[in-house]
Amino acid sequence: MKRSIYCGNVRESSVGKEVAVCGWVHSRRDHGGVIFIDLRDREGILQIVFQPENKEVFKLAQDLRNEYVVFIKGLIRYRPDGTINPNIFTGKVELLVNSLKVLNTSPCLPFEISNYNGATEELRLKYRYLDLRRPSFQKNFIMRHRISREIRNFLNEEGFLEIETPFLTKSTPEGARDFLVPSRLQRGDFFALPQSPQLFKQILMVAGFDKYYQIAKCFRDENLRSDRQFEFTQVDIEMSFADEEDIMNIVERMLVRVFKVLLNFEVKIPFERISYADAILRYGSDKPDTRFKVEIKDFTEEFKDVKFGVFSSAILNGKIVRGLCIPRGINYSRVEIDRLTKFVGDYGAKGLAWMKITGTGAESNIVKYFKEDEIKMIVSKFNAKPGDLVVFLADDEKVVVQGLGALRLKVGKKCGLIDKNKFNFLWVVDFPLMEWNEEEHRWQSLHHPFTAPKCSQNSLTKENVNEAKARAYDIVLNGVELGGGSIRIHKSDVQKNIFDVLNITEEFAKEKFNFLLEALSYGAPPHGGVALGFDRLCALILREESIREVIAFPKTQKGMDILLDAPSQVSDKQLKELGLQVIL
Ligand code: AMO
Ligand code: AMP
Repeated sequence: MKRSIYCGNVRESSVGKEVAVCGWVHSRRDHGGVIFIDLRDREGILQIVFQPENKEVFKLAQDLRNEYVVFIKGLIRYRPDGTINPNIFTGKVELLVNSLKVLNTSPCLPFEISNYNGATEELRLKYRYLDLRRPSFQKNFIMRHRISREIRNFLNEEGFLEIETPFLTKSTPEGARDFLVPSRLQRGDFFALPQSPQLFKQILMVAGFDKYYQIAKCFRDENLRSDRQFEFTQVDIEMSFADEEDIMNIVERMLVRVFKVLLNFEVKIPFERISYADAILRYGSDKPDTRFKVEIKDFTEEFKDVKFGVFSSAILNGKIVRGLCIPRGINYSRVEIDRLTKFVGDYGAKGLAWMKITGTGAESNIVKYFKEDEIKMIVSKFNAKPGDLVVFLADDEKVVVQGLGALRLKVGKKCGLIDKNKFNFLWVVDFPLMEWNEEEHRWQSLHHPFTAPKCSQNSLTKENVNEAKARAYDIVLNGVELGGGSIRIHKSDVQKNIFDVLNITEEFAKEKFNFLLEALSYGAPPHGGVALGFDRLCALILREESIREVIAFPKTQKGMDILLDAPSQVSDKQLKELGLQVIL
């Protein structure tokens, strides 16, 4: 019982030939005397015809139900005129059955494979194996496989070595929350699952491997979103004797290759670069979606002395004013403006000032506080047209940036400004080395503490670190942070200096990072690297909204695996062996 061809691969070239196919009954139609089934396998669907003349087989076919598994032999023939289905690759042909073997049956399904609308996400995850049978899912995973194959081909050709690194590693501070694994042999001690292979890949550089890559599983205990899972995959790369340009170039050429081979899409390189400061100012985000041109403008200088007190007094108090011009198209009513105000309120904004641009100037409740030339200045700075709506936020930088950044995206979507066919790649560069953590009252690395500062000497102090830039780069695609990397610190004294600025005491650094500091001291080469979120890359290529569509067994929003019913309790014996006790 051997298949000779996949259902989905049968074409006109097979007409007149005997074939053997296996698959699932996708649907069954009884056309008074003739039975049709659509037989499905991972490559697609083939129409199968049972004629009553073949009595024994026809009788068996009458009992077929959806998702029965069958083995069928028969003759491929052209479909009669008028029955051609142009929507599927096999639409011109059909299989006339000689023999049928039912390999397995299935009860009535919790939801239809061909039409799952109405099934809740929870139900679909519980029966993930049924959901995954859907042709669109099969297509996604075939594509995911091809993308990783192409990435491997490319990196292999470029001389990179694929080296695996451990899952049972050490918990280190400075990152997301770790997943911990209790040790049985060293009771009371814990391994941590790796948030990324970062430290191992740096140590592999010290070990002289020169060019490393790994399509690596990473684990982070953080809140889940459409582009975030506990477990995700990175295309992880590290190179010795390389600078920013080398790493960015490898990534660009890798993406050119992937998009060309898999989508026949020409990616233009080098990608545009934008500084972090510029991204924040113009797009209100460190991962700007540049598929549409609406940009944020700063008015802090221009509005210093305006009569409108909300602006001038905010500026006097050290706050900033920035605005956005929403292109005409939607006629904003007061109700809609109220909705936008509420939307930015979620980011902490206390209001949203607005003006409707008219042929002669502007209209709104606050226009009376502005001189004619001030209105002209606003119109000209935005290059605003009659019918546009300009809005402003006056607040702390964080509130203004986040509020307008989010509003920009909302407007882009709502007004249909985003060209969905575009792939806009962008490098964000010139990141600050550190950011101030208000809650913990200390500096923390914007990327990770192994990122090299732009200044050459180890002269950083807590006082001057706010000006330091990092030798880091993030890659953004269509407003999604696709990856990030940096040139690393390769000298232990510079690394110690950074730990010092981060308030990591020498003792603590020794306990947590001694292996790294030691490794760096034994002739570590200059090195750097990058990691791309592989799930995000697949989702973007497949134009899926969530990475869950490209992960075979994802966790739910609440971090559960509904298929396995995990996480789950373990036996007292298991706990005892580990020296653990559950206290809730
Ligand atoms: P970073 O933390 O920026 O860098 O991660 C790199 C990329 O991994 C993806 N990513 C995720 N994808 C899905 N779910 C998650 N929870 C998740 N977290 C991150 C993103 C991100 O851009 N070691 C460094 C890289 C380096 O410096 O070489 C690192 O891990 O696409
Ligand atoms: P008010 O003076 O409170 O009547 O506000 C006048 C206008 O300014 C209203 O449209 C408010 O939404 C808006 N507004 C109030 N506070 C701010 C702020 N911090 N930034 C931008 N607009 C604001």
